[in-house]
Amino acid sequence: MIFRQLFDSQSGTYTYLLASRRGGEALIIDPVLEKTERYLQLIKERDLKLVKAVDTHLHADHITGLGALRDRTQCITVMGERSKVDVVSMRLAEGDRLTIEGLALDVLYTPGHTDDSYSFVMNDRVFTGDTLLIRGTGRTDFQNGDAHAQYHSIFNKLLRLPDETLVLPAHDYKGETASTIGEERAFNPRLQVKCVDEYVELMHNLKLPNPKLMDVAVPANMRVGFAQEEIARRGWAMTATQALDLVGRPQVALIDLRERTEREKQGVIPGSLHAPYTDLAGNVRAGGMLHELAAATGKRMVFYCAFGERSAMAVQAAQDAGIMSACHIQGGIDAWKRAKGPLVR
Ligand SMILES: [Fe+2]
Repeated sequence: MIFRQLFDSQSGTYTYLLASRRGGEALIIDPVLEKTERYLQLIKERDLKLVKAVDTHLHADHITGLGALRDRTQCITVMGERSKVDVVSMRLAEGDRLTIEGLALDVLYTPGHTDDSYSFVMNDRVFTGDTLLIRGTGRTDFQNGDAHAQYHSIFNKLLRLPDETLVLPAHDYKGETASTIGEERAFNPRLQVKCVDEYVELMHNLKLPNPKLMDVAVPANMRVGFAQEEIARRGWAMTATQALDLVGRPQVALIDLRERTEREKQGVIPGSLHAPYTDLAGNVRAGGMLHELAAATGKRMVFYCAFGERSAMAVQAAQDAGIMSACHIQGGIDAWKRAKGPLVR
């Protein structure tokens, strides 16, 4: 496995780059905008293909690299379903699995530091975001923070992992790089409380100054969505309501770009083909499945995904590859559901 912990000294942020092998798919957790070039260089050096970029929560102390990495690599942006970010390609909930080739991370919803904080468990390690830090815990005094919820996230979820589980947080300010669940249970001063009320009292008396970048970072991090308007301006988009008329039409191919688990959970537009986004480049190039389908049948290629972001990028790639009929459903399945479009499982 390729595992890298990268550090941004400005914000004290740890970013993690994961891949199962050299030359394979890669995942990045909590990237920092200013470090984008460094990540891309490392990805290139290790011959990796970045397929997913994840934020554990909406950060207040740095601007996320999610949007920049998506624009540079066409990777899928991922956050939790509770995040107030405008658009990400994929949203996860507790019990979901975040997967790339050869790796799977289990999603835990661990609110408290913010109400959109998630942790990711991968075999012997857990990425705790700012929920559990090394000998500390994430502050709970802004962004819908809740010390009560954090106590439950830590004591009833994270501390139930095996003692030897490595703890990999999103921040450290003292030079620590990793810990374990057992060590934190025993030695984290914030966790030496007898009950939830004692923890809440402790967190309410911290009186910390706001992060320097908070007024800049929070609004910037709320708007990371891909500019779908540009795709619409070119006439390559339709609303979910317009798309309703297309179901069952022989001259149209509806193409679902989502992953199998998303399809099972949310349902599928009747009669659509499944062509996962990660296989897109191969599918749209000459000789690829979708390229040949478009050429052989003259069907209009209508892409869709969860929120319209992957499909917007797919339309651009398909058009670039010469599939001139390619368009997408703006807002994806999310908009389709609101338009009361039929779904099958
Ligand atoms: Fe945070």
